[in-house]
Amino acid sequence: MKILIIGNGGREHALAWKIKQSPRVKEVFVAPGNAGTALDAVNVPIGVSDIAELVKFAKQERIGLTVVGPEAPLALGVVDAFESEKLRVFGPTGAAAQLESSKAFCKNVLRQADVPTADFQIFRDPDDAMRFVKGRFPGERDRCPVVVKADGLAAGKGVIVCKRRNEALDAIDRIARRKEFGSAGSQMIIEERLEGQEASVLAITDGRTILPLPPAQDHKPAFDGDKGPNTGGMGAYCPTPMVDDALLAWIEEHVLVPTIHTMKRNRKPFRGVLYAGLMLTQTGPKVLEYNCRFGDPECQPLLMRLKSDLVEILEAVVDQKLDQIDAPEWDPRPAICVVMASQGYPGDYEKGKPITGIQAADEVPDVKVFHAGTRLDQENNVLTDGGRVLGVTALGESISVAKLNAYTAVQKIRWAGAWCRKDISDKALTFAAEVQEH
Ligand code: AMP
Ligand code: GLY
Repeated sequence: MKILIIGNGGREHALAWKIKQSPRVKEVFVAPGNAGTALDAVNVPIGVSDIAELVKFAKQERIGLTVVGPEAPLALGVVDAFESEKLRVFGPTGAAAQLESSKAFCKNVLRQADVPTADFQIFRDPDDAMRFVKGRFPGERDRCPVVVKADGLAAGKGVIVCKRRNEALDAIDRIARRKEFGSAGSQMIIEERLEGQEASVLAITDGRTILPLPPAQDHKPAFDGDKGPNTGGMGAYCPTPMVDDALLAWIEEHVLVPTIHTMKRNRKPFRGVLYAGLMLTQTGPKVLEYNCRFGDPECQPLLMRLKSDLVEILEAVVDQKLDQIDAPEWDPRPAICVVMASQGYPGDYEKGKPITGIQAADEVPDVKVFHAGTRLDQENNVLTDGGRVLGVTALGESISVAKLNAYTAVQKIRWAGAWCRKDISDKALTFAAEVQEH
């Protein structure tokens, strides 16, 4: 079978690498791909949102299964377009993908399904939103623990976590009046600010059966110690000890199952990856957001650990037979992914810097270097081509060993301005130490 993967990030390189190992697969195409997918698969120069061209290519090449990586084409209805042409595709329809593409839609589903989440109000009119904040927090200097969110997709940037009232009022102004996030800000959500550790629980579902994957933890802030601006994710590890088996079972019962049921009842059945971004609060896990795809970088350590054939699982979803396959097998060893980024990211950065040492890094035992923002020049040299450039991913007997392996590989890679966080997975070690103390 021929497989098409849509996307060009680290997640898509990991998907291509894993899918290529399946005995069912003859050829893997990635649209548009990066330097890593050019080496491990075949790149096709079609953008992720060029749905008509993607459909045309899939028909021409007789693609047996298409896997959608990022959220933008899902929100645009790429799955609907493929299905209406009888093309097999893994991912939710545009209607179901609203769980990610509209935070107001998501909040309403959570409320209807009685899933724990932060208290919230939805606003269209900035004056109403400001009156609400001033009514709730009458003193100008009062603490104001709220989060103001633009409704639509804003590449992770439309979420403003506030401490003081003037920050909340400014956030409303930025979203609704200055339109910093464009049409994503035509509605906004104001919600209670939660505290705790964050965890990513991803599940694969065919709309009926739910297969939770081992829990992971992302690192969204740019710098060590969770300082600096938010990014797409600077690293992840899996499994996280913060979600043990009992808590994962609780999350399945109280979060995933009611959400999937509610989507089905609302005639928007959800198929694909349901990714719950959770805050582990003192009063239990609460959903911060849903994504409707594999997380990036969570996908990289997850797939490093998956021993079973991913294609069998993805096909079972498309055929709605997820209840009929064996439970997937996981490498018991933890995995971590360290993202190496361009100087200036998540702000402005330069592209086109030659990268050396990737092969030497790949040769470190139990390491795989996944490409994200990279491209090949005419002589097949690898150049930087994005903010998040590489995801150096490693397995190890323990989280500390996996971390050591990953950073040993990181040290072999060089380009002008390369940097990474040095503390990916340390929260797991701090957590384990605290558990031992109590
Ligand atoms: P989201 O895109 O909704 O996941 O938000 C991005 C980030 O903002 C999350 O990963 C959290 O760090 C933070 N965040 C979102 N909602 C809340 C909340 N209610 N309380 C505290 N932090 C939040
Ligand atoms: N790792 C965060 C995301 O994929 O949205």
